[in-house]
Amino acid sequence: MQSSGNIIIEARAVSFTYPGAAVEAPPALSGINLAVKKGDYIALIGPNGSGKTTLLKLFNALLQPTGGEIIVKGISTADEEKLPLVRRYCGMIFQNPDNQLVGTTVEEDIAFGPENLALEPSIIRERVASVSEKMGLAHLAKHPPHQLSGGEKQRVAIAGVLAMQPLCLLMDEPTAMLDPAGRNEVLSTVENLNREEDIAVIHVTHYPEEAALARKVVLLDDGCIAAEGDPRDVLTDLKLLHRLGLQGTAAVELAAMLKNDGFEFPPRLLHSRELVHEICSSAQKI
Ligand SMILES: Nc1ncnc2c1ncn2[C@@H]1O[C@H](COP(=O)(O)OP(=O)(O)OP(=O)(O)O)[C@@H](O)[C@H]1O
Ligand SMILES: [Mg+2]
Repeated sequence: MQSSGNIIIEARAVSFTYPGAAVEAPPALSGINLAVKKGDYIALIGPNGSGKTTLLKLFNALLQPTGGEIIVKGISTADEEKLPLVRRYCGMIFQNPDNQLVGTTVEEDIAFGPENLALEPSIIRERVASVSEKMGLAHLAKHPPHQLSGGEKQRVAIAGVLAMQPLCLLMDEPTAMLDPAGRNEVLSTVENLNREEDIAVIHVTHYPEEAALARKVVLLDDGCIAAEGDPRDVLTDLKLLHRLGLQGTAAVELAAMLKNDGFEFPPRLLHSRELVHEICSSAQKI
């Protein structure tokens, strides 16, 4: 059994209704139960308006549940005195890096969070240097953030969160505004942090290939969890995904089309390289 000491975030019967929402409007979230553990890599997917951003904001205590509760490392997010600690544990990365960069140089930007924690200047310098090194940003320390590429800016935003020594990264479509190179840059950075430092990741994405990188997928629909589990189960359930207006990975979609033409593939096939392997081995048998 998983030790409760490993649990970072726990949502218990969480519901949320935005203030001023029409009485007949359904809640933005309802009946959410979820545990996020050390080292988890969770993709949070769902149609527009299904509640993904709202859930991240609840985890980060930017919003408070209207029902149920959220516990971060034993602290209720309703405990106002402990809000800075909750926000340090759960750092948030948004879609547009331009909206989260505040410093006039990269190093100032990364130092912003630790400065707000009122740490000793020598500790701040040490943290900024070590995080910059880890994120491959050391050579850009004196650069103004607005002159960087999209991928670099998003890595600066992640570095700023890392300088707070978080337990979990909450990422809301962090690659949506990036070109393929920028996307890969951010994805490999995050994968490394998760694998090497055990930092939990919750990654909201509309890209099935990105969701397929996670170890668990949580699918929201109309504010409720419609499915959760291994990406090989959730992202291959085309009946469910298509009903919600979503898609599986390119490999899942193509395999389904080929199956209609009489080709056979093993179940739970998810990644393009697996599909290519299957097609190549079938071709060798012909
Ligand atoms: N500030 C707000 N005030 C009122 N309602 C809101 C507000 N923000 C979001 N909502 C509503 O809450 C629901 C969930 O929105 P949310 O932004 O969490 O969805 P999402 O899954 O992140 O969507 P998207 O994929 O478009 O980013 C939607 O019905 C949305 O219209
Ligand atoms: Mg959103």
